[in-house]
Amino acid sequence: MEAFCLRWLLLVWQCFVIPVWGLEFYKAAVYEHTAVLRPKTKTPATREEALKHRKKNLDIYQEQVHEAGKQGVKIIVFPEDGLHGFQFTRTSIFPYLEPIPDPNVVQWNPCLHPTEYTDTEVLYQLSCMARNSSMYLITNMGEREACELSDPKCPPDGRYQFNTNVVFDAEGTLIAKYQKWNLYFEVAYDTPKTLQHVIFDTPFAGKFGIFTCFDILFYEPAVSLIERYGIKQIIFPTAWMNQLPLLSAVQFHQAFAAAFGINLLAANQHHPEYNMTGSGIYTPLDFPYYYNMKSREGKLLVADVPIITSIKNHNLEQSDSQTSTFLPDQKWGVKQDQSDLFKNSTVSHMDGAGDIFHAKMMFDNYTFISLTGLQGNLQVCSNTFCCHVAYKHGNTPTNLYALGAFDGLHTVHGVYYLQVCALVKCAGSGYDTCGQSVATASDIIDFKLWGNFSTRHIFPEILASEMKIYRADSKGWSNNDFYMIKQGMSAGLVTAALYGRWYEKDSSS
Ligand SMILES: *[C@@H]1O[C@H](CO)[C@@H](O)[C@H](O)[C@H]1NC(C)=O
Ligand SMILES: *[C@@H]1O[C@H](CO)[C@@H](O)[C@H](O)[C@H]1NC(C)=O
Ligand SMILES: *[C@@H]1O[C@H](CO)[C@@H](O)[C@H](O)[C@H]1NC(C)=O
Ligand SMILES: *[C@@H]1O[C@H](CO)[C@@H](O)[C@H](O)[C@H]1NC(C)=O
Ligand SMILES: *[C@@H]1O[C@H](CO)[C@@H](O)[C@H](O)[C@H]1NC(C)=O
Repeated sequence: MEAFCLRWLLLVWQCFVIPVWGLEFYKAAVYEHTAVLRPKTKTPATREEALKHRKKNLDIYQEQVHEAGKQGVKIIVFPEDGLHGFQFTRTSIFPYLEPIPDPNVVQWNPCLHPTEYTDTEVLYQLSCMARNSSMYLITNMGEREACELSDPKCPPDGRYQFNTNVVFDAEGTLIAKYQKWNLYFEVAYDTPKTLQHVIFDTPFAGKFGIFTCFDILFYEPAVSLIERYGIKQIIFPTAWMNQLPLLSAVQFHQAFAAAFGINLLAANQHHPEYNMTGSGIYTPLDFPYYYNMKSREGKLLVADVPIITSIKNHNLEQSDSQTSTFLPDQKWGVKQDQSDLFKNSTVSHMDGAGDIFHAKMMFDNYTFISLTGLQGNLQVCSNTFCCHVAYKHGNTPTNLYALGAFDGLHTVHGVYYLQVCALVKCAGSGYDTCGQSVATASDIIDFKLWGNFSTRHIFPEILASEMKIYRADSKGWSNNDFYMIKQGMSAGLVTAALYGRWYEKDSSS
């Protein structure tokens, strides 16, 4: 404990105070968009109808860009599928697609040279929006590319169809495009010919990387951009369907940003009827986000983002291999004196242990142990992966909670290997309800959660009642365990999870 505090003081002195005082900010915006949908997405439209439909969405984008411009925004991000909506077939999306020249090969400003390529009306409008408001603009759209049937990967209809993000600079020049690598059952689109690590530069904040929605769950290109290319800012258009207890948009996206200590600009669709809401500007300092299941309206979220691209945080890296905080929580000072409960990081005895049982959480078979009493110290294992929690209720427990462990290959709606420790509020009073979706809670719980992970990629999530996101007071490695501690929350705990991804084992079965 003492050693830890000392280390902390060193950190504050070495790498927190100095850079933070000199830290500069820029304004960024993400727009959570209620895409105007087309009623019949399976019947092909004409190109004209498709343009008319998209115009409705483009008009909304234009308003938002104007509004953002008034607030001094330098960069704005729109969500995945925001210009046309979802549930298209390969054929019915075709009239919506535009050929997008490769910005690595040609320099093109569609607003200045609208007739250079045919069928690029949408690129033209987007480019002018960016140019008119002197703002970097990133949006997702559909791309088509003719191919020769001699190309072995060329689809039988003689064209590629890609789910693509486009990046315009403040002049309206198309400076980058990224074709989504990890498609999420999108029959309308092809997987790109090659994996792309797309990075673009800005005069106001340095480099940004970019990827789309489902990509965030995989090593390539998401984690690779951060770990191999040193990217500290990510642009993230998404159409994310929330799934509790572990993969709600704001919950997971904040955890991703926190795990790497990066800025993540996440723009989601706003369609509560599809469980789509939750956009945010997640930074190491603060993480304003938007989540609203009641309103039908979109939402422009504007925030000051710290320029962290020029900061070397090697000191932080040493103490906490998954660096997060540039600024400690303001409350940190009072937390140095942690309760005895959390001093031991090994469990010598089990207190408050209830029954061990199995239940499905998000299609995976977790081993759970129920919590009993006001406080306790529990362990539960899945294979040789073991999870622990030391906990203390702030009030009389009113709900059933359980600690779950899972070590295995997730195979429903995507194949990916997980190691997860999750303290969850059960949806009801039966063990079979543990792991089910629940969004409200009244039990205030202080906890330390840890596990002996075999992966170093662990996303720390703390979700409280009414979709309130908290950041851990502290987290990091202690011997072979990854841990996080949280005390003094003001809202009931819904889920506290260490969501580990073991990328190397994704192809195992
Ligand atoms: C911006 O670009 C559009 C074309 O998309 C144009 O009609 C408009 O007049 C331009 N200027 C402003 C200030 O919006
Ligand atoms: C939205 O989420 C709720 C709660 O998890 C679920 O019951 C419902 O089926 C979801 N709706 C859709 C369209 O997936
Ligand atoms: C920590 O664990 C050791 C045994 O492993 C035990 O003797 C000691 O009492 C524990 N301390 C606290 C504060 O629980
Ligand atoms: C979950 O795993 C346990 C132990 O591996 C097994 O006994 C149980 O049948 C499984 N439950 C389901 C629903 O697959
Ligand atoms: C995790 O810890 C348990 C005991 O707490 C141990 O049996 C198991 O071998 C450990 N697993 C790994 C991968 O180190």
